[in-house]
Amino acid sequence: MTSTDIKITKASSSKIHQVNFDNLGFGQVFSDHMMVVDYQNGKWGEAEIVPYGNLSVAPSLTTLHYAQTIFEGLKAFRQADGSVAVYRPEKHAARFNISAERLCMPDFPEELFVEGVKQLLSIDSEWVPSQKGTSLYIRPFMFATDEFLGVRPSRAYKFLIITSPAGSYYEGGVKVIVEDKYVRASEGGTGFTKTGGNYAASLYPAVKALEKGYHQILWTDSKEHKYVEEIGTMNVMFQIGDKLVTPELNSSLLAGVTRASVIELAKHWNIPIEERKLSIDEIVEAHEKGILKDAFGTGTAATITHIETLNYKGKDYHLPPIEERQLSKKFHNYLSKLKVGEAEDELKWMTSI
Ligand SMILES: Cc1ncc(COP(=O)(O)O)c(C=O)c1O
Repeated sequence: MTSTDIKITKASSSKIHQVNFDNLGFGQVFSDHMMVVDYQNGKWGEAEIVPYGNLSVAPSLTTLHYAQTIFEGLKAFRQADGSVAVYRPEKHAARFNISAERLCMPDFPEELFVEGVKQLLSIDSEWVPSQKGTSLYIRPFMFATDEFLGVRPSRAYKFLIITSPAGSYYEGGVKVIVEDKYVRASEGGTGFTKTGGNYAASLYPAVKALEKGYHQILWTDSKEHKYVEEIGTMNVMFQIGDKLVTPELNSSLLAGVTRASVIELAKHWNIPIEERKLSIDEIVEAHEKGILKDAFGTGTAATITHIETLNYKGKDYHLPPIEERQLSKKFHNYLSKLKVGEAEDELKWMTSI
């Protein structure tokens, strides 16, 4: 047995005929199979692909109390020629282990992560939708499985991959409010990881923002609420004059795979890009001077999401019309075509199944 051997038990029948592929939404239906691997006595056990189904856990399961859990989110796409390909799985496997280290969890073998995704997708390939803008969302995750109420790292863990067909994303712009009271993460904390607690901490401020009529929050640094960090489940980029500017990475924001892709593409296309501290005052000033040309979020969900309106200290700033945003459209067009096999994969980002 090699480290990427996976034992397969197929479902006796498929649920696919019960699914309305014209109205998928996000994260609501799950494909027929999942991958499961247990960690015990200091090592990972045999990887298995089994029918998707419930898990049984003890009420004392440490994750339920102290949230020692991490996840990833990536996507597979139906290609123009009918085959299936995944976007940058190895980058997600590497980030998973960055999260694991901060959460005191064992490293998960990156080759097995990628192989698990590939085998799961080849078994459930019919679940990859083909309508424009759709994808198969892939959710790898790991959680602590000790039955213990003390606060210490668990000794046992479970790793799983589940997949879910996702509908096409709304391509319009979003209204975003700059947060100057609450924080989701702070320097030295876990903001740079994909751990459940970061998302739990963001719910209350996000509900408050929605009540005020804003789709998303633009988080600012926790010390001064002066520098912008990221938006909900996206990193953020602004075009000021001819330069693209994005907040530099630190321990309170996630190093997005889409962010990295846009930066690599900008360099490849000779578009000036700066990763640095970016204050909300600089953004507002650029807008007032008429040199803020583009503002967008980057993330696996929609690739590129235009920011239409930015609210800061009770004032709405209406950003340039989406039709005029050449830079974000250039990234969006290339990446959307690349993901479905309609653009040349110059930087070798797609993994075929
Ligand atoms: C907090 C946060 N920031 C940014 C992102 C964007 O990252 P990616 O481009 O890897 O999807 C995500 C989504 O994973 C996220 O959850």
